Amino acid sequence: MGTLEGKVAVITGAGSGMAKESTKIFVREGARVVAADISGAEEQTAAEVGDAVHPVHCDVTKEDDVAALMAAAVERFGRVDAVLNVAGIGTGGPITKVTMEDYDKTMDVDVRGVLLGMKYGIRAMLETGGGVILNWSSIGGLNASPFGTSVYSAAKAAVISLTKAAAIEYGRKGIRANAICPGFIQTEIMGAAGAQRFPEMEEKAALKRSGKPSEVAEVAAFLASDRASYVSGVVIPVDGGWTATLA
Ligand SMILES: NC(=O)c1ccc[n+]([C@@H]2O[C@H](COP(=O)([O-])OP(=O)(O)OC[C@H]3O[C@@H](n4cnc5c(N)ncnc54)[C@H](O)[C@@H]3O)[C@@H](O)[C@H]2O)c1
Repeated sequence: MGTLEGKVAVITGAGSGMAKESTKIFVREGARVVAADISGAEEQTAAEVGDAVHPVHCDVTKEDDVAALMAAAVERFGRVDAVLNVAGIGTGGPITKVTMEDYDKTMDVDVRGVLLGMKYGIRAMLETGGGVILNWSSIGGLNASPFGTSVYSAAKAAVISLTKAAAIEYGRKGIRANAICPGFIQTEIMGAAGAQRFPEMEEKAALKRSGKPSEVAEVAAFLASDRASYVSGVVIPVDGGWTATLA
């Protein structure tokens, strides 16, 4: 019997990367998953993983889309036990070069998208007595970097703040909320080129390698399960020891 048997999870960004891997691992553990993405690739995820996955086209920046996403989960599977707000984008540039277009885009997807996922996800969970929010921040949300990630870092710090607010506001109603801060993870979008472009990033991790999407998704599966029933309001780096260094 899996650790997520009988649970229903909504996962955003599920057409790619860590969200797609989370979809696979949640289903392996017995969950049914509503896989949401703006790209259309959520259909492919569902085709690959099987009947336990219901794909929904959704732009997390649009309030109507997110409300409809949670409604689709309830209609298809009867409830929402976990929401994984994974969808995110990273725009680059140091502070003096930031464009307001990039700023708006990043804040829209990375902050507004997470806020909406929590707003409608928590509303759905309250109907059945509670649930789990897992928000994808980043080690960039904990500290600044020399890689021109100023606005991205600010957005991911906001995700941490919103996560703690959700934990505090809804803990008494049976909601747990935690933030995951991945380090350098080799997702489809980075591919092999990611390590080639930023070899120093692999070097930064104490483990001297990048992470695999599954290494983050396994942590998410634990946090969404009842085995983590007393874990709320925490911020967990999954970064191979990157943030442990002074350098
Ligand atoms: N890969 C890393 O090294 C890394 C490190 C730290 C944090 N993160 C964060 O982890 C999360 C997942 O990263 P990943 O590398 O797996 O990403 P990815 O780029 O592989 O996948 C992100 C998915 O989000 C979807 N998406 C983008 N905008 C959307 C929108 N408006 N509505 C719905 N879906 C949308 C994309 O279509 C894509 O399928 C992101 O929030 C990212 O910022 C990634």
